[in-house]
Amino acid sequence: MQAVILHGGQGTRLRPLTHTGPKQLIKIAGKPVSQWVLEQIRDAGIKDIIIILGDNNPNKVVEYYGEGSRFGVNVTYVYQGKARGLADAVYKVKDVITEDRFLVYLGDNIVPYDNLPSFLSFKGSASILLAKVDNPNRFGVAIIKDGKVIRLVEKPKEKISDSALVGVYAFTREIFEVIENLKPSWRGELEITDAIQGLIDRGREVEYKIIDGWWKDTGTPKDILEANSFLLDKYAERKIEGEVRESSIDGRVFIEKEALIENSTIRGPAYIGKGSKIINSYIGPFTSIGDNCVIEKGEIEYSVILDNVRVEGVSMMDSLIGNNSSVIKGKKWVKLIIGENSRVEI
Ligand code: DAU
Repeated sequence: MQAVILHGGQGTRLRPLTHTGPKQLIKIAGKPVSQWVLEQIRDAGIKDIIIILGDNNPNKVVEYYGEGSRFGVNVTYVYQGKARGLADAVYKVKDVITEDRFLVYLGDNIVPYDNLPSFLSFKGSASILLAKVDNPNRFGVAIIKDGKVIRLVEKPKEKISDSALVGVYAFTREIFEVIENLKPSWRGELEITDAIQGLIDRGREVEYKIIDGWWKDTGTPKDILEANSFLLDKYAERKIEGEVRESSIDGRVFIEKEALIENSTIRGPAYIGKGSKIINSYIGPFTSIGDNCVIEKGEIEYSVILDNVRVEGVSMMDSLIGNNSSVIKGKKWVKLIIGENSRVEI
């Protein structure tokens, strides 16, 4: 079976982090969001993966995943370009899908559903994953009656259902025929939700499974921080590959190769990336530090710090710091160079 990972889209709610690359490449707990997706698909036994590229630095995605061998899969790329909707993206793989059934996974969704194989053995024309949510107007929702999906609505204005579509779908090739006749929605996109509704309108069966527990569409900074806490809580292990000098490392802390921890305390679950230096600092629980960062006299908790970041003399929590940034305590005046749509609390 083949799987399709959607790697396009705008990522507007994650600016300025997405000015230089797609949101799915933001690293959480040591891996880009889309790598968590890809590894889950691989672990379900699917080795043939198609990545759909958007127009935000798609070269970075190709550079990272290559032809897939580093991850034990075979990756091919299809270019969508401008984000014209999920159904538009899915239609782009029409000529590269070679079997009748295939999986589609949104590259910004973290769905710890470990039963993908059962999800894929559906009988009807499509299979969807649903989860109960408090804010259904942010998602596509499904109305279920007598155990059947009878209607799907994208971003409903009224509360017609609390069962949201999670970003994992399985289709037969019939979906391509429906997409050919689809009209753009009010937001100008070809919606996959409308395409699935099209299958129902043709009298086809759409199977569903309801997942309980945590899942996340990592569309906002708050989502990224929550995903980080969840992933560290679930997957962090104690593994110290870097060097530790006169420091206290408590609990499930993963310190990557070439990292140096000196005169510091690190309390897990936490992740310290390759080549990073933590000096005279405290790194608290639920924190991911990227590669080649320098943290000196800093205190950081419940945060995601991406690659090549320098933090000096600052205490922070619930923070998300983009690649190549510096957060340095000044003497009296605050000196700031801040990109578009940023947020600073001092
Ligand atoms: O997260 C689940 C929700 O995802 C579903 O409940 C909704 O029914 C579904 O429409 C989708 O809603 P979003 O508004 O959150 O979709 P978003 O624009 O964030 O795109 C989802 C992913 O697909 C993201 O990884 C970007 C990628 N994408 C998006 C578009 C619009 C593409 O690759 N191409 C596109 O044209």
